[in-house]
Amino acid sequence: MENETEPEPEPGAESQSDEQPDSTVTRDEPPDETPPLPPIAVAARDAVKEYGEGSTAVRAVDGINLEIPQGHFIAIMGPSGSGKSTLLHCLAGLDDLTAGQSFIGDIEVSALGERERTRLRRDKVGFIFQSFNLVPTLTAMENITLPTDLAKKEADRQWVKYLIDTVALNDRLGHMPSELSGGQQQRVAAARALASRPEIVFADEPTGNLDSRRGSELLQFLRAAVDNFGQTIVMVTHDPIAASYADAVVFLADGRVVEELIAPDVQMILDTIKNLEP
Ligand SMILES: Nc1ncnc2c1ncn2[C@@H]1O[C@H](COP(=O)(O)OP(=O)(O)OP(=O)(O)O)[C@@H](O)[C@H]1O
Ligand SMILES: [Mg+2]
Repeated sequence: MENETEPEPEPGAESQSDEQPDSTVTRDEPPDETPPLPPIAVAARDAVKEYGEGSTAVRAVDGINLEIPQGHFIAIMGPSGSGKSTLLHCLAGLDDLTAGQSFIGDIEVSALGERERTRLRRDKVGFIFQSFNLVPTLTAMENITLPTDLAKKEADRQWVKYLIDTVALNDRLGHMPSELSGGQQQRVAAARALASRPEIVFADEPTGNLDSRRGSELLQFLRAAVDNFGQTIVMVTHDPIAASYADAVVFLADGRVVEELIAPDVQMILDTIKNLEP
């Protein structure tokens, strides 16, 4: 990854790379001996999301409690259908909970109406969708600057250039999504999610369509955003290597948190997945 154009970290955005992750994401009260946690960026309390009604109802999220401190990188893993995307959508305010609460900072997202949720997302959230969700009639560059354009914010040009260099999209900026490969679309989606410098980035399988080189570049980039800029990231992934970039991994099964790893390495993640298999 080229770092030549990397902007200086902002004042106050200290590197956290040497720090040990200090939280167990799903624990409500830290024990006395741990240092105080940074403020909570994202939280869920007894969160439930049901689709459908009556005998056909599906509890995609079934009573989840989470607290993710600012400046942390959290991975969410679990089998297909375990509720990962649903949880991410509810945390990001893209969908509403059936019961319980979700928070972004001290704002209770689950108590907001549709219009307020839209505003909150625009101001504070970047989302990399499992299915990219690029606007087909806009070029790659227009897609990347769309969130800042919608928020009527002045794009930070140096930052956007850094993002584009990092995801190696310079020669594709004028292309429409239909003219891009899946991996290229995924990289546009990643740059778009970070372009407005959101407080929180949610990423649903951001490396799912990337080859291993591009995948590890994107993961290093997400890791650097956490370490250098205090970015908070919540990433869903099936890939133990991708999850090993995170400070902690939360494992879901049937809409519930079933395990959690702090400072995970690939082997720990593989062992946990194996132990959780029915
Ligand atoms: N709009 C919907 N209507 C009804 N059921 C849904 C809807 N969206 C998701 N579900 C169901 O909720 C459960 C959780 O789905 P979700 O997409 O959150 O899983 P996931 O863990 O992200 O899976 P994957 O790894 O395959 O992406 C599944 O049983 C799914 O069929
Ligand atoms: Mg999913």
